[in-house]
Order: sequence, then structure tokens, then C-alpha cells
Amino acid sequence: MSKGSVYKAELMWILPSIALPVIMLGLLLWAAIGRGHDLPGVEGTLDPAQLAKTPPFDKPGTFPAGPNRYQVNMVAGIWSFTPNAVRVPAGSTVEFAVTSRDIVHGIIIKGTSANVMVVPGQVTRFSARFEKPGEYPFVCHEYCGVAHHIMFGKVIAEAKK
Ligand code: CUA
Repeated sequence: MSKGSVYKAELMWILPSIALPVIMLGLLLWAAIGRGHDLPGVEGTLDPAQLAKTPPFDKPGTFPAGPNRYQVNMVAGIWSFTPNAVRVPAGSTVEFAVTSRDIVHGIIIKGTSANVMVVPGQVTRFSARFEKPGEYPFVCHEYCGVAHHIMFGKVIAEAKK
């Protein structure tokens, strides 16, 4: 191998190894600034011991929030979700506000992109659309103790009559 081709081979490895972290940093900045992915602000915090007096968690349940829109206020705790059945017409967009009254839980809703952590003292907000009639089961996906596996529920999207 000539000296020149050795340099060339080294460059072939060195340049991508410099480019990769630069690309990753770029994607990180794009996600953080461009897409607004950041840590929850202080406005999303609450006292988990005072949920019964803290809106919107003083009224857990499903509420109309406009045409084809619903608001779900949900409290997670060992080992259940309140409410654990959410009933909406098919074609609805549901905005969830979820918090935990005890320890860290999670929620993932089958058939949607909803997959979030539920942390005591924090309000987790996300929305999901339930286009097709049917059942969309959800589970806690963060190990939370001996009965973690029974922590589940479902969204029921009802066919329009
Ligand atoms: Cu809650 Cu696992």
C-alpha cells in the first residue's frame, strides 16, 4: 500500500466519525428547538397529594371539548388508571392530561402513537386520534410493582349510529 492510499483510507474513517456527532447534534437541536421537545416547565407541575383539589384531576373522566374532540383527565396509581375505560365516538381526537398519584407509571395505547411516561408531580399531555370503531387497549409500560401487569384499560371508539 502506498502512503497516499493509507491516508485516503484513514480519511474515509475519520471524516464520517467527525460528521456523525455533528449530524446527531444537529438532529438534537432540531428536535429540541424546531419541534419543541423539552423538559416539562413549572406550569406542568402539581402536588400529587392534592390531586382531589387540583384541576383538571379533581374531575377524572372524559369530557367533550369541541367538535370531534374530547378531553380525558386521567390519574394513574398503583395499580390502575382512573378512568380505565374511555368511551368516545369513532373519529374523535382525544386530548389526555395524565398524572400519577404515587410513583412513576407509563401509558401506551395500542393502535396510536401514544407512548408516554407518567410521573408524580408532573402533568403529561398528549393527544391521540381514534379513527376506526373498536377497542384500543392501553397498559402501564413502566414496571411499578407486583401488580404492574394488571394496570391496564381501554379506549372504546363507538361506531356512529
Ligand atoms: Cu403502573 Cu406499571
